[in-house]
Amino acid sequence: MNLYRMPEIFSGVDAAPALGKVLSTLGVKRIFIVTGPHVSKSEGFAALKAIAEADGRRVDIFSNTSADPSLLLVEEMSAQARAFKADCVLGVGGGSPLDASKIVSILLTHEVKPETLVGTDVCPKREIPLLLIPTTAGTASEVTIYSILTDTEEQIKKAVCSREIIPDYAFLIPEMTVSMPKSVTAATGIDALCHATEAYVSKRRNAYSDVMALKAVRLISKNLRTAYNEPDNLKARENMLMASLFAGLSFNNSSTTAVHAFAYPLGGMHHIPHGMANSLMFAPVFQHNIAGHEERMADLAEAMCGKHDCNALIPAVQQLKADVGMPMNLQDAGIPESDLEAMSVSVMTVTRLLNVNPNGITLDDARRIYREAYEG
Ligand SMILES: [Fe+2]
Repeated sequence: MNLYRMPEIFSGVDAAPALGKVLSTLGVKRIFIVTGPHVSKSEGFAALKAIAEADGRRVDIFSNTSADPSLLLVEEMSAQARAFKADCVLGVGGGSPLDASKIVSILLTHEVKPETLVGTDVCPKREIPLLLIPTTAGTASEVTIYSILTDTEEQIKKAVCSREIIPDYAFLIPEMTVSMPKSVTAATGIDALCHATEAYVSKRRNAYSDVMALKAVRLISKNLRTAYNEPDNLKARENMLMASLFAGLSFNNSSTTAVHAFAYPLGGMHHIPHGMANSLMFAPVFQHNIAGHEERMADLAEAMCGKHDCNALIPAVQQLKADVGMPMNLQDAGIPESDLEAMSVSVMTVTRLLNVNPNGITLDDARRIYREAYEG
């Protein structure tokens, strides 16, 4: 078992004031903020910017982070950060700005092409502080070793996996998540549920990832509907941030498995948002995984709905998905039937995740799983 270090975490009402104290303690003077266009216009962001600018600190902002940031975009951000002579990077946003800010924190002092960071443990040492503030509750980028970037030339997503991009500090501020559109609340929440459930059945699971996974599932089961139906409910928002955090700590120290693998072609070929893609693939993949793993599935079902029954998990997750307005099959999500074969061939290349799935997956299994996801 190998457990990665955690960032220091502040959550709840104390988190925003803690940001100012941490920046003062670090003695940073020039903060480069990476965020997205929606978040950059929010009241919450203005409050954070004021905290960052206190005590005479200078701030430069890149607010145009797109979804699925490209290698080219992070290069552009890094050039801006270097020109500003930043001595700290602060990421504020959903998975895309946070993933991008992780790469900027490396490239700021190492002038190399971002593609040289792709792979496992090839990042040079990070030399400046990295602080992250999530505005969604799902990706858990604020605690993981991962940054997902898009290679627009090859039209695929590439993963940077390195302990160097685990931030120093993460601030979980519930108020920062209330302006999330309802569909994003739903999709990111189901993404977190997939992180936890996949980590719990992964071949790389361990005692630590198990504890984190079950706690995350319980929190999501109890809070996602409320966060979706009552966007301003700060208790539900805080609980979802904690759920995402625990799910992140779980899969960061175990791994996601075939649900995430099957979601990749949906994102790559059809630009289905990450959380929605996972949501669409959950039921058929977990159905494939039940045989031989009944006890594990029963544990997850118990955390999800109180029944220690392996066959209760999928219906409970499907009910939650329906309650938060997720599409229930690939047809509803607009995927043409004619693309199922290409996606089946494509998913077989995601060996990093398929190899740790509890049950093996052949090309014929992949065809059947996409067919089941299509018909719902
Ligand atoms: Fe995910």
